[in-house]
Amino acid sequence: MIAKRLFCSILSCLLLFNLVQAQPVSEIKVVVNQRINTVPTSMWGIFFEDINFAADGGLYAELVKNRSFNFNDPLMGWKWMNKGEGKGDGRLYNFGDVLRPNKRYVRIQSTSESGSFGLSNEGFRGIGLKKDAGYRLTVTARGGDLNSTANLVVELVDSTGKMLAENQISGITKDWKKYEVILNPIRTDASARLNVMLKGKGLVEVETVSLFPVDTWKGRKNGLRSDLVQLLADMKPGFVRFPGGCIVEGREIATRYQWKKTVGDPNDRELIINRWNTEFKHRFTPDYFQSFGLGFYEYFLLSEDIGAEPLPILNCGMACQYNTAELAALENLDPYIQDALDLIEFANGAVTTQWGKLRASMGHPEPFNLKMMGVGNEQWGPQYIERFKRFNTLLKEKHPEIKLITSAGPAPEGDKFTYLWDELVKLNADFVDEHYYQSPSWFLKNAGRYDAYPRKGPKVFAGEYAAHSKGQADPTSRNNLESAIAEAAFMTGLERNCDVVQMCSYAPLLAHKDAWQWNPDLIWFDNLSVVPTPNYLVQKLFATNKGSYTVSVLKDKGVIAGKDGIYASATIDEKTKEVILKLVNISQNTVPLKFSFTGESFKSQYANMEVLKNKELTSWNSFATPSNLGIDVQKVKVSGRSLMLNLDGNSVNVLRIKM
Ligand code: AHR
Repeated sequence: MIAKRLFCSILSCLLLFNLVQAQPVSEIKVVVNQRINTVPTSMWGIFFEDINFAADGGLYAELVKNRSFNFNDPLMGWKWMNKGEGKGDGRLYNFGDVLRPNKRYVRIQSTSESGSFGLSNEGFRGIGLKKDAGYRLTVTARGGDLNSTANLVVELVDSTGKMLAENQISGITKDWKKYEVILNPIRTDASARLNVMLKGKGLVEVETVSLFPVDTWKGRKNGLRSDLVQLLADMKPGFVRFPGGCIVEGREIATRYQWKKTVGDPNDRELIINRWNTEFKHRFTPDYFQSFGLGFYEYFLLSEDIGAEPLPILNCGMACQYNTAELAALENLDPYIQDALDLIEFANGAVTTQWGKLRASMGHPEPFNLKMMGVGNEQWGPQYIERFKRFNTLLKEKHPEIKLITSAGPAPEGDKFTYLWDELVKLNADFVDEHYYQSPSWFLKNAGRYDAYPRKGPKVFAGEYAAHSKGQADPTSRNNLESAIAEAAFMTGLERNCDVVQMCSYAPLLAHKDAWQWNPDLIWFDNLSVVPTPNYLVQKLFATNKGSYTVSVLKDKGVIAGKDGIYASATIDEKTKEVILKLVNISQNTVPLKFSFTGESFKSQYANMEVLKNKELTSWNSFATPSNLGIDVQKVKVSGRSLMLNLDGNSVNVLRIKM
């Protein structure tokens, strides 16, 4: 595919050059020699939330659903089964220890000499297996009282029961112990199952069954899906916001996200129900839980791996205001604030401190260099301000080096928004997090939103945005070109105003094809493949072409935010000494443009222009055609002080010219 695109680029180089028309609309001036705003390194980032099976069943590479029998329905995802003449008795037990994170185990008792008896797991809407790849199966088990000669047989089978891989664990002792074997499937299969069976007479008790691909990101055990992380790394994001989203708030206080319960040994992290489990009646996912195998340590590690600043968001003593809106009383807020202080210690503290020591024991003695943190997610009202004040006072006193992110509520205008901004300005907040899930036309209309924003006061974090083609969170919305182009047009306005808007992230990030709740999303995946949407391509275009500082792109002395369907912004990359022009054409027609560069005369050269375009605004990348929309690289001839371009209709273009 890449080779094809490169080939196209050479062709289009010639085509584009010849297509330059004689009647440019008018002259666009790029004031190359006048530095406007420094582009923050954190400008374009990612927003990760455990929604749409983004963590368990997604980024977190565990393939067994309900691996420790801790779901509310303890055998959800499992079924008892026998093979051949096999007979037996299967029982669920409780350890009876309230403090123990894993409450249960199963007893598999096989009562016949021939055949086998045991359990079968369905995975997260099936188990995705790749031919000849290695899969590491671990079982925490102990042997029973019988003088068992039985072996624990582990099998990967397809949906009809045909064998894909087989191995066995023998010599299970009477003490709880972890056993590990590798399975190598003979075929690729997107919806396999895992069987854990006793062959021959015997008894075994099992606490946890886990299956990971050997090939996780960086080969880590308890690791992440490498294809998904690779897409994130390719974006070169400036920050990773985690773990959400409403998941931070919980539907009630008890199910809020508590980072301390997500660190330490992954098997000791207490599982809870995922708040998106039953949130949307039309997308009911009763099998959605949070195992926290992907917890705060792993989020920090992920951020570090992909060169992004970590941006954790913490609960501020408020449950989701769309659900119970339950509050922690102000006099009971101290533990919440302590969580924030301890998190700073976990991330940055010396290995001699309590939480720094835990970080070191998990494998990372060096600090994670945390610089910012969110207090509350999408909260609103005086209850939020009261709580934020408490956090602010203590955190600023003890850690003035940590920037705090505050909420502007769920919408980018209205009473809640105005109230919060007024209060946060008074409090001299560092960052205000604005959210916009709006129509494509809203994004186009608002491309100049920040041109007249106050330059003093809190900075803006455009923390959650996405153009919804069919009304807010409408499940029939698509990640189509129309939405991607609208976002790109809006993002030229964000870039132009990067003195005010210093961080931006599309939301949500990930969605499983068969288990999503919220649509649209940046990256879609199933058990074997990933689909980058045009919206992802836009994010990648901006993030990988960030530049060091902005310069003006002017038409008739004004910014270009919709005139003749064109939106534009420009930066200079100090390292590569290039002008980076971002140009969006939302009209259906090719628009001829003439650029002049103030203060710069270019040597004759071919410059690269990355282009995302299609005649059909409804075009998108499906699982059947994941590269329907991609980035083409075209060559553009530049010389002297001017440049003629025919900008294709429905296109997002990033041009880099060597100075
Ligand atoms: O991104 C989906 C949800 O939208 C987030 O959880 C929440 O912050 C917003 O309402």
